[in-house]
Amino acid sequence: MKNTFDAEQGTPGARGALSPAGAELAVSVIAQVDRDHPADAVLREALRSAQGLPRIESAAVSRAVFSHFRWRGWLDPNRTPQASLRQALGFAATFRKKPGSVPDAELLERAIPEWAKAEVTVTPDWLRSIQREPLLWIRSRASFWPEIQRELVLLHRDRLPNAGAHAGDVDLFRRASFQSGQFELQDIASQAVGWLCAPQPGQTWWDACCGEGGKLLHLSDLMKNQGLIWASDRSLRRLAFLKKRTARAGCFNYRAVPWEGKTTLPTRTRFDGVLVDAPCSGLGTWGRNPHARWTTRPDDVHELAVVQQRLLQAAAAAVKPGGRLVYAVCTLTRKETDGVADGFERQMKGFLPEPVADPFHRPIPPTARHWFWPKDTDGNGMYVAIWRRI
Ligand SMILES: C[S@@+](CC[C@H](N)C(=O)[O-])C[C@H]1O[C@@H](n2cnc3c(N)ncnc32)[C@H](O)[C@@H]1O
Repeated sequence: MKNTFDAEQGTPGARGALSPAGAELAVSVIAQVDRDHPADAVLREALRSAQGLPRIESAAVSRAVFSHFRWRGWLDPNRTPQASLRQALGFAATFRKKPGSVPDAELLERAIPEWAKAEVTVTPDWLRSIQREPLLWIRSRASFWPEIQRELVLLHRDRLPNAGAHAGDVDLFRRASFQSGQFELQDIASQAVGWLCAPQPGQTWWDACCGEGGKLLHLSDLMKNQGLIWASDRSLRRLAFLKKRTARAGCFNYRAVPWEGKTTLPTRTRFDGVLVDAPCSGLGTWGRNPHARWTTRPDDVHELAVVQQRLLQAAAAAVKPGGRLVYAVCTLTRKETDGVADGFERQMKGFLPEPVADPFHRPIPPTARHWFWPKDTDGNGMYVAIWRRI
C-alpha cells in the first residue's frame, strides 16, 4: 500500500530536539534491540553509560528510540539509520499535531504485524491509541496524595483515586518523595487491577505472580499495611528487587516465597483473595513498548495461554470458600483473555463469576470480565476476570 501519510522531515520532537550525539546514541540502541534485549532495558543501560547526559537530552534519545519502533512500519528500509530516525521523528510530530492524517487502512497495514490481526479484535481506535506517546502515570500512597498533588504537575486526576499523569519537567526518580516511597510509577490500567481486587485491611491475600511488586504495593496500601500478603514469583531476581521496593515504600505486611506455578503450593494458607497477574504476550503494552510489536511471536500467544491456564488453576486451589480469585493480563488476545477464563470455568467447578463495577466509572453494567483498552483509559491494555469461590 502506498504511504499517504507525510512526515515533516527532520522535525524534532515537540519537547526537545535531538542533538547529533543523541541521534548516534539512539541509532546504536536501536541496533542492539532484539527479542532478548528489549528497547527499554538497552536504553536504560545506554543512558547509564553515557554519564552526564542532560535530562532533556536523555528524554529526547528515549523519545527517538520509541518513535522509531512505533513508526517502523512506515520507514523506508533503504535509508541510513540516521535518516530513518529523522523520518520516524517526523511521523511522530505530524501525528501529534494531526492524528487524523493517517488513514485507518494505513494504520491497519503498518502499525502492527500481520499475525496479530488474527489474535486481537483490531479497531482503528486501538491502532490510533498505540501510535500516541503514552502518558506516565503515578500512584500515590493514599496518605500522601494531598502533598503529592501539590508537589507534582499531574493531569487526569479524576481517573482513579490517588493517580495522575505526570506532566512536569522533573526527574521523578530523583524526588525525595519517590525515594521515600510516597508514590510509584504505575500504569493506570495496572492500578485498576488493584481497585478490582479491593482487598480489605486485615485480610490475607496471595499475589501469585508478584514480579517486582507493582500491584503488591498497591494491595498493601489498600489494606493500610494490615493483614498479610503472600508474594511469589518464579524469578528470584524479581523477588530480590521486590524487597528493595517494599522497603522503600514502608510495606511490611508481606512474605515473599519462590513459586514456579506447580500444583504444590508455597503454603497451606487459604486466602481471602488470590491475584494471578500472569505472564503474557504483552500486546496491551504495544503503545508504551512499541519494539515488542516486532519481537513478539504468534507462538508466544499460544504457549503463554497454556501457562496462564495452568497458573490460574493451580492458584485457585488456595482461595478459601467465599474468597476471590482475580486473573489479570496486560494483553488483549482472545486466547489469553476470554479463552483462559472460559477454559477455567469449564474445568474448575466451585467458582462463580463475580460482577464488579467498572473502576473508571464508565456507564457500563458491573461485569466479571473487564477489558481496558488504551483508548478508554489512556494507559496500557489490560484484561481482568474475577470469580468467587462458593
Ligand atoms: C505480568 S508479570 C507480574 C507483574 C507484577 N505483578 C507487577 O504488578 O509488577 C508476570 C510475572 O510472572 C512470573 N512468572 C512467569 N512464569 C511463571 C511461573 N511459571 N510461575 C510463577 N511466576 C511466573 C514472571 O517472572 C513475572 O514476574
